[in-house]
Amino acid sequence: MSERVLIAPSILSADFTDLGAAVRQIQDGGADFVHVDVMDGHFVPNLTIGPPVVKALKRVSTIPLDVHLMIDNAADTVGWYLDAGADWVTVHAEACDHLHRVVQTIHSAGAHAGVSLNPGTPVEMLRDIIGELDMVLIMSVNPGFGGQSFIPRSVERVRRLAALCAEEGVAPLVQVDGGIDPVTAPLVAAAGARCLVAGSAVFCQEDPVAAMNAIREAAHRVL
Ligand code: DX5
Ligand code: ZN
Repeated sequence: MSERVLIAPSILSADFTDLGAAVRQIQDGGADFVHVDVMDGHFVPNLTIGPPVVKALKRVSTIPLDVHLMIDNAADTVGWYLDAGADWVTVHAEACDHLHRVVQTIHSAGAHAGVSLNPGTPVEMLRDIIGELDMVLIMSVNPGFGGQSFIPRSVERVRRLAALCAEEGVAPLVQVDGGIDPVTAPLVAAAGARCLVAGSAVFCQEDPVAAMNAIREAAHRVL
């Protein structure tokens, strides 16, 4: 397992009037991914951005776009995000009737495929597909909004996911999203997370780059 923790700042908490500047700031500051939260007002109550904005972000980003689709029927529209230039695409297991087929679609476009689980979805449901995945995203809040409190049970869920990966002999990137800050980052890193999404703990801080590096350093202290 990699001993480096990757950081994926979520631009959901950035200034939407100047997303290009937000992307440049974090990539110059050493971010590993740009995390892009797509919400459809159905799967989650909130509504954010769609393919045209992903396409625009792709023009300014020199690091991979990590597109988190919080949308119903992802199979119907995942192609739009792939065409827009998403490098990594994560879909919710709860929103895909034919999860394996969606993962195949992502891979056939040459992108990396991730599957996300809501806090109420058992980790074990991924056993038969985990060998196909580049990333598993454990939601540590109920998706839909930035700035929510970390759900403590998520630590145990990350631990169980790491155990499942070990049993199956696979090593997808284990990502955690929701309420990540310098206090919660070490908890999930110690449990096996190797990619941390953070929105408000980065972009709502006076110095987003320093805040991002503080999260990474806090995680590295427990490895
Ligand atoms: C929540 C989104 C997150 C969100 C995290 O539904 O998936 O990526 O931006 O925000 P924070 O880090 O503020 O919890
Ligand atoms: Zn997200």
